[in-house]
Amino acid sequence: MGTLTLIEPHGGTLCDLLLQGEELQRVQQEAINLPSLTLTPRQLCDIELLLSGGFSPLCGFLSKQDYDSVLENMRLSDGTIWPMPITLDVNEETASDLKEGDKVALRDQTGLLLAVMTLSDVWQPNKELEAEKAFGTTDKAHPAVAYLFDQAGDYYLGGTLEGIALPIHYDFLELRKTPKQLREELEQLSADKVVAFQTRNPMHRAHKELTDRAAEEVDGHLLIHPVVGMTKPGDIDYFTRVRCYKELLKNYPEGRAKLSLLPLAMRMAGPREALWHCIIRKNHGCTHFIVGRDHAGPGKGSDGEPIYGPYDAQELVIQHQEEVGIQMVPFKLMVFAPAEEVYKPIDEVKEGEETLSISGTELRRRLSEGEDIPAWFSYPDVVAELRKTHPPKNQQGFTIFFTGLSGSGKSTVANALMTKLLEVTGRPVTLLDGDVVRTHLSKGLGFSQEDRSTNVQRIGFVASEITKHRGIAICAPIAPYEADRNANEDLIKSYGGYIEVYIDVSVEVCEERDTKGLYAKARAGIIKGFTGIDDPYEIPKNPAVSCQTDKETIEESATKVLNKIFELGYLEK
Ligand code: ADX
Ligand code: MG
Repeated sequence: MGTLTLIEPHGGTLCDLLLQGEELQRVQQEAINLPSLTLTPRQLCDIELLLSGGFSPLCGFLSKQDYDSVLENMRLSDGTIWPMPITLDVNEETASDLKEGDKVALRDQTGLLLAVMTLSDVWQPNKELEAEKAFGTTDKAHPAVAYLFDQAGDYYLGGTLEGIALPIHYDFLELRKTPKQLREELEQLSADKVVAFQTRNPMHRAHKELTDRAAEEVDGHLLIHPVVGMTKPGDIDYFTRVRCYKELLKNYPEGRAKLSLLPLAMRMAGPREALWHCIIRKNHGCTHFIVGRDHAGPGKGSDGEPIYGPYDAQELVIQHQEEVGIQMVPFKLMVFAPAEEVYKPIDEVKEGEETLSISGTELRRRLSEGEDIPAWFSYPDVVAELRKTHPPKNQQGFTIFFTGLSGSGKSTVANALMTKLLEVTGRPVTLLDGDVVRTHLSKGLGFSQEDRSTNVQRIGFVASEITKHRGIAICAPIAPYEADRNANEDLIKSYGGYIEVYIDVSVEVCEERDTKGLYAKARAGIIKGFTGIDDPYEIPKNPAVSCQTDKETIEESATKVLNKIFELGYLEK
């Protein structure tokens, strides 16, 4: 366990925690009778790099002593530099059954045994302190802080690992390399200098230029080493990105650049993360590491200000690069200078010289509007890959989500809208009417707040799948709670369009209509918990469309919604 193998010249000491032969069999046997823990997606990323040696010198999840020391000093308790708390978080129930000295079997979601962990500590961390020390803020606008407070369990397990197997992957197998494999390949290339480029985004010309310059400066090979574990929420999925990297790679001179995928769960921790990236790349056999502008930046805090300065990461790495044994190749912001048709760092731009750049947000806007993406910005083959998974709006799926009181006219307007949509488009349309859904998808659910939430979120889930598959979903439940509507909106928007329609009719009008006789029953106390009578309805704050079915015809209401769909660009005239 924790065997130390020295592979020179690439990288130095590497922990290989994977057991072999008889030892492997013994521990596998032993694990049968141990309590099991199913690892979360983030823990799976962490354990992969622990077991493969990517996190050397770590031999397991941090003990309490090492955790405290990492937070306070950016060092393990023995003084070795290590900036990131790598912890195994569990809930209170799990923690209460475990104590120091116990062994646990760590498994993936399918039950596959990955490692046996011998616990050195079970403790409750001070999450505020961790956020402040590791990420420099307790602001939940920082993705790792939000994860720590909202998703991570309240207890940590520390301890060493006896590795059984690495987590299994089925994608891009030819590009997944353990530190040991990568070192061997680099050695075969006789590359004594290797400069690594970290990324969680598609690469365009600016990044090509940056990496070209770095390789030239260092006079070495390039390792394009993108993260395919977990990145910043909202990032472009790694399948798309890897196809883009493969296209981009064709533009380097033969043999200069190598692509390998890193199953890392990023924390977006800026400076500390950059230093962590250096150690990881050193372990993968690299001698140099590119740190550009805003490396591993988490974006803006809730005050609207960037959480870290654009070059904070470079400043921290410079202080420790020697100790880590890797050299940073720093870059200022790369911009395009159209007059000379070149990319250059902003500090080489002359006064008054025009420069161009396209932000990630602007790129997404152009993709979504189907607008041109200029050749100075990216390569046509890279853009083509991006367009496959990010089609323009008029090819994206979308959901029309009706909400309103019972009897307000949701179903009628929804049905009218559906036929109007079928008239103008050949695309599939699915109507998820509240009453109909309760006969199948949500059969058995009642009208408690919990059941109503479940019902509305089930509808949202199905709508999100339809939207993902580029179809059209029309939903028409009462959906009285804002929180459920918001949850649906977030989910659906990650796949396509979400258009909320409020059928804005007062309870008095609905009661007077009483098409189904339900208001009479509610008044008579025969039905309890009826929306608008003795159950709440939270009025939508910002619907895309409002329909007053007491003041306009169904035809007019449905046309209003249809026009909104055209206006937003999800359908083309
Ligand atoms: S990161 O979260 O992985 O850092 P990204 O993939 O955007 O995000 O950046 C990868 C690396 O390229 C980082 O070192 C970053 O600083 C650098 N970088 C990206 N774009 C530029 C740019 N236009 N100018 C300078 N450096 C850049
Ligand atoms: Mg109805």
